[in-house]
Amino acid sequence: MHSFHYREGELYCEEVALRRAADEFGTPLYVYSAGTILDHYRRLDAALVPLDHLICYAVKANSNGAILKLLADAGAGFDIVSGGELFRVLKAGGTAAKCTFAGVGKSREEIEYALAEGVLSFNVESEAELERIDRIARSKGVKAPIALRVNPDVDAGTHRYVSTGRSENKFGIGLDHVAAVYEQAARLPNLSIRGVQMHIGSQITDAAPFAEAIAKVAPLIEELKQRYPLEFFSVGGGIGIVYESSFASGSRDWWTEKDRVAATMTLPLTIADYAATIVPPLREIGLRVLLEPGRLLVGNAGVLLTRVRYLKQAAQKKFVIVDAGMNDLIRPALYQSYHEIVPVREPSDKARESVDVVGPVCESGDFFAQDRELPPVNEGELLALMSAGAYGFAMASNYNSRPLPAEVLVQGDRFSLIRQRQTTEDLIRDEC
Ligand code: LLP
Repeated sequence: MHSFHYREGELYCEEVALRRAADEFGTPLYVYSAGTILDHYRRLDAALVPLDHLICYAVKANSNGAILKLLADAGAGFDIVSGGELFRVLKAGGTAAKCTFAGVGKSREEIEYALAEGVLSFNVESEAELERIDRIARSKGVKAPIALRVNPDVDAGTHRYVSTGRSENKFGIGLDHVAAVYEQAARLPNLSIRGVQMHIGSQITDAAPFAEAIAKVAPLIEELKQRYPLEFFSVGGGIGIVYESSFASGSRDWWTEKDRVAATMTLPLTIADYAATIVPPLREIGLRVLLEPGRLLVGNAGVLLTRVRYLKQAAQKKFVIVDAGMNDLIRPALYQSYHEIVPVREPSDKARESVDVVGPVCESGDFFAQDRELPPVNEGELLALMSAGAYGFAMASNYNSRPLPAEVLVQGDRFSLIRQRQTTEDLIRDEC
């Protein structure tokens, strides 16, 4: 579900015409729907009611404090991967006691900070890290709560850059070896074993890999339960969303046949399918369940608004040059990912033309779409890059000395700036 739809010829987010937000705050501009984020959170929460569970939102997907606050107020915990993310969560009103700290390369300072704040668990990824956490906890006179991240060697069928649960990935500890590492953890005096964690990848659109991973890890958990007072099993995040046809408005008829085919090819993994797959085996296991969804909660809840700067007809192609670039949204360049592009002014007919939508950055990889059938657009017109709420702003950079874009949160008929646009002064502020 998402809350972007045409009304009276214009694209709206909830009750707000996107043109108004662009007029007020300029472009490129990220706009998020609070209603969509909360709807996704509540639906996942409700689907997991048969389990004792905690949804730990993966902060990396979108770390704006206003969004963290929305989720903290709704009762979410957080999956963090750095001291910076913990800082953001605490600033936004979240509690460390609901944070799990993941990542293969935690620094001494980060471990000290997380210990001092009292995180729910460190998700540990190697023996070396285990020893370091123990030493730091000893020096502080405390016990560090830990879970080991198991790598179940499951093929999640996703882009190789976002697959994490194969044995060749850097993440986690192999299933054949992890029991020995738990023994090591049990011998270290300043660690307290709390759980088991896994995460097999991102943008997974089929429930089967989740079922396979749980089935592979279940016997290990049974064995561990005999020895240690395990409290939780964190099944990670990774639930995929629809990128190709997120545009679920009443105006579907302006999709081209090509769009329609793409849409039916990638059927979404619904929350209901996901829950129906994971709840029975997890009930069987009987531990508290932690989940770490990022993209599912915020992906379809955000768009990147951009304005057409120039139209350029080259020998082979027509280029629509927009004011957003790969520095603002890097997913197409980095993962060849698809983002649906729709005009903010509703097209009045079914005319289409094949164009490349490109940004101003000096890289050939700076495109949002290639050979895409789009309604003809004019210079100055606004376009929305859909499903940009996850790993959009969070991965933005200042490449080409482009100031970071602004962000807006819509709640019903209100919209507010949740991050101001950087200025050119901001670009050099930290240099010395
Ligand atoms: N837990 C762990 C340990 C993770 O590494 C990740 C994501 C998540 C949870 C959240 O995964 P999600 O539910 O959002 O799929 N930048 C890439 C995605 C990278 C995901 C990294 N890890 C993209 O734009 O597609």
